Amino acid sequence: MDQIQMDEIKLSVPSKPEYVGVIRLTLAAIASRIGFDIEKIEDMKVAVAEACTNAIIHGCHCKQGSNFNIDFVSTGEKLTISVYDDGEGCQLDNIEEPDLSKPKEGGLGIFIIKSLMDDVEIESEKGKGMMIKMIKYLGDDA
Ligand SMILES: Nc1ncnc2c1ncn2[C@@H]1O[C@H](COP(=O)(O)OP(=O)(O)OP(=O)(O)O)[C@@H](O)[C@H]1O
Ligand SMILES: [Mg+2]
Repeated sequence: MDQIQMDEIKLSVPSKPEYVGVIRLTLAAIASRIGFDIEKIEDMKVAVAEACTNAIIHGCHCKQGSNFNIDFVSTGEKLTISVYDDGEGCQLDNIEEPDLSKPKEGGLGIFIIKSLMDDVEIESEKGKGMMIKMIKYLGDDA
């Protein structure tokens, strides 16, 4: 019987900006082991760094001693990366699409994540943290 091989790596990371680089390196190592090309790895590094920065800044407000989580799940066909925190969360309806014809500072992270990853799911409730799940497929046809 064919069984899908699923590997899972779970990290709990201090909510400090200096750890974003550690996550980027970890992601690159995992993705390259699975067989992703450089271009897809670079896209995932940018997306994951944005998600981690959000968890650190908006989720935990860089609160002393707090951690956030990242799960990497790989199957033969895709890598799923979930970044979640147990901070304040937010009302998803309040997140605005950026108006690219009127450039302003900030508000681009989630937009960038959605444009670089193949699938993105966000779950949040005020007071209950946020979870962002990002998927990249190995093949060309995603
Ligand atoms: N982990 C999180 N916890 C709570 N709120 C969040 C979280 N991530 C995002 N948000 C909310 O969603 C909004 C949009 O996030 P996004 O990353 O698109 O923009 P930004 O972080 O405000 O600016 P930028 O990422 O461009 O520096 C944030 O301003 C914040 O209100
Ligand atoms: Mg952001």
